[in-house]
Amino acid sequence: MAPVGAPNASELNVEPGTLPERMTAWVIREERFGEPIDAFQLEEIEVPDPGALEVVVRVMAAGVNYNNVWAALGKPVSVFRYHPEEDHHIGGSDASGVVWKVGPGVTRWKPGDEVVIHCNQASYEDPEVHGLDPMAAPSQKIWGYETSWGSFAEFTKVQAQQLIPKPRNLTWEEAASYGLVYFTAYRMLIDQCDLQAGHRVLIWGAAGGLGVFATQLCAAAGAECLGVVSGEAKGELVVKLGAKGYIDRNEFAGMMRKGGETPEEEKERFGVSRQFGKAVREILGDAPDIVFEHVGKATFPTSVFVVKPFGKVVICAGTTGFDLDFDVRYLWMRQKQIIGSHFANAYECYKANELIEQGSIRPVLWRTMGFDGVGEAHQLMRDNKHLGKIAILVGAEREGLGKTADGPGAIMAEVGA
Ligand SMILES: NC(=O)c1ccc[n+]([C@@H]2O[C@H](COP(=O)([O-])OP(=O)(O)OC[C@H]3O[C@@H](n4cnc5c(N)ncnc54)[C@H](OP(=O)(O)O)[C@@H]3O)[C@@H](O)[C@H]2O)c1
Repeated sequence: MAPVGAPNASELNVEPGTLPERMTAWVIREERFGEPIDAFQLEEIEVPDPGALEVVVRVMAAGVNYNNVWAALGKPVSVFRYHPEEDHHIGGSDASGVVWKVGPGVTRWKPGDEVVIHCNQASYEDPEVHGLDPMAAPSQKIWGYETSWGSFAEFTKVQAQQLIPKPRNLTWEEAASYGLVYFTAYRMLIDQCDLQAGHRVLIWGAAGGLGVFATQLCAAAGAECLGVVSGEAKGELVVKLGAKGYIDRNEFAGMMRKGGETPEEEKERFGVSRQFGKAVREILGDAPDIVFEHVGKATFPTSVFVVKPFGKVVICAGTTGFDLDFDVRYLWMRQKQIIGSHFANAYECYKANELIEQGSIRPVLWRTMGFDGVGEAHQLMRDNKHLGKIAILVGAEREGLGKTADGPGAIMAEVGA
């Protein structure tokens, strides 16, 4: 059966400009932290009113990200530490939708506008927002992870600066699927690493959310990239997205750092990292100028080792652990750099979104699920059974709606789970 949106989505009997009192939302609460399939529960909850420079958006579709796997687990920290003022967590850091009500001071948007939402929030009053980068602001938070009122609900509350015009060539579910990971990958490669034509890039998890966009960005920039994946089907996907080749990480399982290795075990592990480095050079023609990291503990020593002298390891996560250790001699003697990166600022999101509008970068959609699929979608992600992105229909009654112009839509990833 085709997936369908929220149970009462089609019964919405208020026009843009007026909010209903209550809505259906998927809610995480502290007392049920655990596996995503149980931590997310459907609840009836009040619809928030937009404050100054805020907007309430009717969510048409939402995108699934790893951050709400962490939110469900309550690890490494409880999301309620980030928003102690709310006892509920409505997650969801990607959405497409319709502006429904604007708060005082909003002039750029009006009810009825079709938008996608980027997930960075920061206070208008922080000086960093006006001169350095909103990502540097003390108030900076990721909407739908470090805040509540995210996109797994009929309505979401955001700052007006989070809105971006919805690409007209995309359906609601395609438009909801890419923002968080794509904008993160854009900042990592384009701004933090100054990606250039001719660069060689190694991408961990290249068939995952971040990876599918890192791969496409390299291809669009004229850089050559190599994707590391688990399994042939994922490898085929990354080659289709423009990678020069792929390596199945299962063939080099011994290079993964577990922590607490004895000196003998570490010597053995390092030997496998060396073999992996050789395989990387054989495919790319030389060592990578850039390593795109988010796996963390398991792969970081290999990343620092294999990157070219003067090369960059850019990292935005530590999925397998955030206590990283590596042989620092390879860093200083070969003058390599480690660069931390986190999401993107609004300007980067706008620039990146233009590439989607032009069709140079395309969403990679693995599955679109109905509104009832939020817990299941996060469980699939937790169990690493997905490729690319998963979208959730919320206000959209079925798949395929919302496209108002010709142009390429999403690339469908067809294997997995
Ligand atoms: N800081 C930020 O702004 C930011 C933004 C986006 C995401 N993140 C974080 O980045 C991480 C990845 O996000 P995502 O959306 O890309 O997740 P994803 O869709 O699950 O993709 C991650 C990929 O990593 C690979 N992987 C998993 N375990 C691995 C291991 N032990 N060794 C090597 N590779 C492994 C998997 O690929 P294979 O199995 O095919 O190797 C998987 O496809 C998450 O922790 C997320 O929270 C941070």
